[in-house]
Amino acid sequence: MSAQREHFSSKIGFILAAAGSAVGIGNLVGFPVAATKNGGGAFLLIYAAFVLFICLPVMLAEMGLGRRAQHSPYRAYAELGQGLKRWRMAGWLATITPFMIAVFYMVITVWIFGYLIQSFAGNLDQLATPEYFGQFVNDYNFVAYLVGVTIIINFILIGGVRKGIERASKILMPTLFLMLVLLVTFVLTLDNAWAGVEFYLVPDFSKINGSVINGALAQAFFSLSLGMGILITYGSYFRRSDDIVTSGKLVAVTDTAVAFIAGLMTLPAIFAIYPETNPESLSDSSVSMIFSFFPNIFLALSESIGYAAASVAATIFFLLAFVAAITSLVSIIEVPTSSLMEKKNISRKQALVYMGIALTVLTLIAATSFGLVPLFSEFTNYAGSSKSVFDVIYDVFYDTILPLNGLLICLFVRFRWKRAQLTAELSEGNANYQTSWLEKYVSFAIGTFIPLILAVIFTNTV
Ligand code: PFF
Repeated sequence: MSAQREHFSSKIGFILAAAGSAVGIGNLVGFPVAATKNGGGAFLLIYAAFVLFICLPVMLAEMGLGRRAQHSPYRAYAELGQGLKRWRMAGWLATITPFMIAVFYMVITVWIFGYLIQSFAGNLDQLATPEYFGQFVNDYNFVAYLVGVTIIINFILIGGVRKGIERASKILMPTLFLMLVLLVTFVLTLDNAWAGVEFYLVPDFSKINGSVINGALAQAFFSLSLGMGILITYGSYFRRSDDIVTSGKLVAVTDTAVAFIAGLMTLPAIFAIYPETNPESLSDSSVSMIFSFFPNIFLALSESIGYAAASVAATIFFLLAFVAAITSLVSIIEVPTSSLMEKKNISRKQALVYMGIALTVLTLIAATSFGLVPLFSEFTNYAGSSKSVFDVIYDVFYDTILPLNGLLICLFVRFRWKRAQLTAELSEGNANYQTSWLEKYVSFAIGTFIPLILAVIFTNTV
């Protein structure tokens, strides 16, 4: 164990940082829209069950593995896997995955930053025109916004675990909650908002089918930042005296609560402005909802509350999305950064320079793959149609590799690390060092049906 490894200074620091990772763009728009389209309260119940019975155990396994190893995923798998090649591969995959996901998430975060600046500058009317998003993604202004986002992220990460990630989370997460509550309160006072609440909450079990169930599990898995090596890395910054199980539970509850509360903002806003909305017609894509649909909602709102007030509301919305995205991005970039520090034995500063260069180059490739650079926009005939670099990264890493990484950690616990070790790790830091029913459940589930379910999701995506 490295003597100098930094640790979170408190349990709350860890919880806010991990919740910051989990609460992302998916919570604000993706979850509420998926719930409304797929049976409202019925979807919420299924989602909550998945969080509790499937995702929480995987989350605790990742955190336990990280704390036991005191290393980021690459070395954690290598050391606890006793150097076996297959586990080294799993560690490698858990390092490269967050890097690639960071690329496409960075592109979206840079767009959000651009929209934030534009709405702050009073250009809401332009953002709401149908052609705007298409022009925006093909504009070289992207580079300026990218520089801005890169500076903010490096500013946080250079501070390390306590003075960087933990401190930023302690400021940004309460700010995020405040903005969310502010927007929910405001939206619920609009006429017809409650029709949206009704659509969101009233259960319709007839909508539930195999693909909805599959989608709910995938959404819960991503939303809790599983399979990305993040919780292994953050777990490695956890002190031995800290209680992993309680912390994990609080992170899962916070993430789910934010997604749920976001539904009380997103749906009522849509229904207040477009009372005739048919939930079926809402786009599945968070990207098109955020960048095409929402500016229109805010512009339409200006008819009743005035342009200035609508611009303020839009600015708060994009700031909320930006904060959610930044805290997720920081967590995901920390994984390859800390792996690089460990593997090459270099300082955080050096690792961030290398990471910054690699990430910037790939982000530019992905960002210019919407038409600016034809080579990148028709990158491959992957899956039978020509796809941009951005789409390929999304499909391969987000859709397919995440469940695979989840499956690998279950197999690792079951066959290499052994379940008793995980249980012992989870019990450490508990008030009485006794194995609770939850820990027993985790050890049973991780070694039996969870890997089977993840294997099914993985095979469905390939
Ligand atoms: N939990 C995040 C979300 O719901 O958006 C998932 C995530 C994606 C975390 C990308 C970090 C990240 F860079």
